[in-house]
Amino acid sequence: MTTTETEAASLAELGAAEARCTRCPLYLPATQVVPGEGAPRARMMMVGEQPGDREDLAGHPFVGPAGHVLDEALQAAEIPRGEVFITNAVKHFKFVPQGKKRLHKRPNAGEIQRCKWWLDQERKLVRPEVMVAMGATALRSLLGRATPVSSVRGQVKILEDGTPLIGAVHPSYLLRIRDAGERRRERDGFVADLRRAWSLLD
Ligand code: URA
Repeated sequence: MTTTETEAASLAELGAAEARCTRCPLYLPATQVVPGEGAPRARMMMVGEQPGDREDLAGHPFVGPAGHVLDEALQAAEIPRGEVFITNAVKHFKFVPQGKKRLHKRPNAGEIQRCKWWLDQERKLVRPEVMVAMGATALRSLLGRATPVSSVRGQVKILEDGTPLIGAVHPSYLLRIRDAGERRRERDGFVADLRRAWSLLD
């Protein structure tokens, strides 16, 4: 049996090991783990922050409001969702209860670091040729240091194993922009960054 300390031989084995994860306390209040999903040999891997409320209940990444923004951007960039692998830097939903609601709380550096074990294994199994980091948490996980999105957005960074990484905004950021014109501009920038990442595979 693969434990949470030994490496998995397949994505199915990895998902089963992730479901037993106790590497940090975030597994305690969460409904379930949300492993990465997509083409097992995807050439592009996209990394978000952590599952949200909807993803925690469904057990699948990016199926709530941020997922709809991501789907729309992928479509605009002509990237089929089924051809990429979509995952998160942190695999459990971190939240603070408020009445009947569960309010998203950003994972801290220790939680991101503990969970990198799973992201690294996803990368080893899928072996993507391009990585897309959506938002500051994904950037911190993959680059190993706090990195403002604005400083790397649309740029190519090279990871320790030689894989190119493109920085991009997180889809939830687009949901928070009130001004329609600014939202459109930021959304177009996000689509351009996805296109740029996809074009590295040409
Ligand atoms: N936000 C994320 O970062 N990941 C999800 O899966 C959903 C929302």
